[in-house]
Amino acid sequence: MRSLRLLLQVVALAGLSLFLEAQAPTTHLDDPVIEQRVSKLLSQMTLEEKIAQTVHYADSSTGPGSPHTDYREQTAQGHVGSFENITGATATNALQKLAVEKSRLHIPLIFALDVIHGYRTIFPVPLAMASTWDPALVEQASHIAAQEATSEGIRWTFSPMVDIARDARWGRMVEGAGEDPYLGSAMAVAYVRGYQGARLDDPQSMLACAKHFVGYGASEAGRDYNSVDMSERALRQVYLPPFKAAVEAGTGSVMSAFNALNGVPSTANPFTLTHILREEWKFEGLVISDYGSVAETIPHGIALDGRVAARKSILAGLDVDLEGNMYSRYLAELVRSGDVPEAAVDQAARRVLRIKFALGLFDHPYTPEPAGTGKPELDPAHIEFARTAAERSFVLLKNGEAGGHAVLPLARDVHTVALIGPLADSAADMLGPWRARGDAADVVTLRAALNSRMQQAGGQLLYAKGTEILSTEDNGFAEAVDAAKKSDVVLMALGEDSLWMSAEAASRAHLGLPGNQQQLLEAVAATGKPIVLIVFSGRPLELNWAAGHVSAILQAWFPGVQAGPALVRTLYGDVSPSGKLTVSMPRYVGQEPLYYDELNTGRPADGIDLTRPPRNDKEKYHSRYVDEPNAPLFPFGYGLSYTKFTYFPLELSASQVSAGALSGRSQQPLHVSATVRNAGSRAGEEVVELYIRLRGTSVALPVKQLEGFRKLTLGPGESKRVEFTVGRDELSFWNIDMQNTVEPAHATVWIGPSSAEGQSAEFIITK
Ligand code: BGC
Repeated sequence: MRSLRLLLQVVALAGLSLFLEAQAPTTHLDDPVIEQRVSKLLSQMTLEEKIAQTVHYADSSTGPGSPHTDYREQTAQGHVGSFENITGATATNALQKLAVEKSRLHIPLIFALDVIHGYRTIFPVPLAMASTWDPALVEQASHIAAQEATSEGIRWTFSPMVDIARDARWGRMVEGAGEDPYLGSAMAVAYVRGYQGARLDDPQSMLACAKHFVGYGASEAGRDYNSVDMSERALRQVYLPPFKAAVEAGTGSVMSAFNALNGVPSTANPFTLTHILREEWKFEGLVISDYGSVAETIPHGIALDGRVAARKSILAGLDVDLEGNMYSRYLAELVRSGDVPEAAVDQAARRVLRIKFALGLFDHPYTPEPAGTGKPELDPAHIEFARTAAERSFVLLKNGEAGGHAVLPLARDVHTVALIGPLADSAADMLGPWRARGDAADVVTLRAALNSRMQQAGGQLLYAKGTEILSTEDNGFAEAVDAAKKSDVVLMALGEDSLWMSAEAASRAHLGLPGNQQQLLEAVAATGKPIVLIVFSGRPLELNWAAGHVSAILQAWFPGVQAGPALVRTLYGDVSPSGKLTVSMPRYVGQEPLYYDELNTGRPADGIDLTRPPRNDKEKYHSRYVDEPNAPLFPFGYGLSYTKFTYFPLELSASQVSAGALSGRSQQPLHVSATVRNAGSRAGEEVVELYIRLRGTSVALPVKQLEGFRKLTLGPGESKRVEFTVGRDELSFWNIDMQNTVEPAHATVWIGPSSAEGQSAEFIITK
């Protein structure tokens, strides 16, 4: 397991500002003063008042059809502990006033919202943020989100989503950091620190919520809410680490997942909620269900009615019922009948109150109200940060040549540019899913930004939408082809609808470009013009055909409010792309789930030509497809720049380390280093990645595992030596006895630009 220490080191090494380095994890959850205040309050509370703290309403303010039209009255009577989806200082203050001034014990509410990638200023979606490989940037973005959200009364965000996602069919891949537990842990820490700041009781700090606990990203067949069956080892090795990192970084809350894990719905799973989270990790914060998931234990089939749903959930360790409306209905009677000990309710209420005290809500329940009304203005510094974040999140997948030079950055003599595609001017889609208080009206699209750039530069922009995102009509094709024919270069802005096809309940069985966009691409490509394909999506799409037929491909994800300016600056070379994939990009959907750190199997296809069907038994009886290569189209960790980086051979501080010494007090690690050179003629940033493989161990381990990364800035011709420490955290794993330990082994270590390339060396781990 990786420790927080290591992660903080990674974060620091990635170039964190002094401000961020100075922060300790945000844990005031073991403060004796707070515990005393909680105990005193609890001793004055009736059973109903304690239960109220476990009640969270989501739909209170949504008007007709809401199950809680009397939510104001309920608040005044002290029947509700927290709300979500109520925003704005005036609205939150008004409701808070009822809780604080009218309810018997004056206990404040917490207001929550899904602030996922920005509040008012919308940043790139989390999968894009992870593609920056820059935890410091993610921390800063989360800090900005917290500043903006808290100014409107929101003190709790349901973020970060730290689910490992290895199947691009699953729409929620967009909400997380991708497929890797090491990178996922670094990002989890960054989000928690950014939201919660140095102290939770700072009025600009917002409680983080690591979700969805746990295994949700492994939903079978990539279908949302589907069940998950996995070994405890896979759970511990892959899916738990980002949660553990979030807990160690001080997250004050965790959200249980919708899925059943090994037959037990996560919301009522004592193994994960109590054994792992509380007993192993000593988590002192609160656990909230996912939306309605206490009640969903009934369709899952472990409860016949709401009474049992509530009983099983609270006894498993679930503190707060998010809109399941089961705790509010049944907990009192369950306690009175002796089916649930009152101590279980006390404990849940204690955890909620502890958080309310830690947030300082008892002392400062209200939010200063702004002079004007309506949405707060966008802060120019936040907009600029959103642009930088977007620029750093783009992943250049291909940059072929046209006319004797690389297509990107666009050459000075490019005069006429054709801009084609349904995403070129779609402001709303740039925001991606989960927009909090973002506004499409604030978005600068690619078309708008390109237009102003070309007006300044004196070029000509020919825009043709070509088709809709999800359409079968091809009556816009002719105009698009015509524009392409008249241009020097074609920019094609294609991809997914950001709400309908991405995030929750947006699983896809096909991963191609939606609607008839592939046909549009092929029609435009037939003109023979150089094409730069810009892909907007919340997951990797099948770009097999495009990779073989267009000149350049830029994966843009959903870049946020500054999509256009960030893209234009990248296309024109004001900045060089530096993002790298955090998910493997499949050739075909049939390869999913697809991830780089797979096990080798007993019949690996090493040395076999997988680009053609097997011709004999020797080629056939391997772990392979007979009709496609195994490898992704673009691997995890991959991304190009406008410059080129060369990696020199590795240097190891020793050829062997001792497992005993690594685990013992002295913990003598190994140092692995390599020199990286910018061999091109312009400055650029490179993510340098460290991978390790262990063989000869009690259980089979992945062919490679990311164990470190560093983002370097190198001027033309400049070289830097990068050194990584390889110690217990990097070499330990869950062994055959389910112990997290270092075993004697043969180790291979790589330092390289992606999971598929790099310089390697060997060392031995002795007893
Ligand atoms: C989602 C959660 C989200 C919650 C908010 C659910 O549908 O799964 O991620 O935080 O809604 O109520």
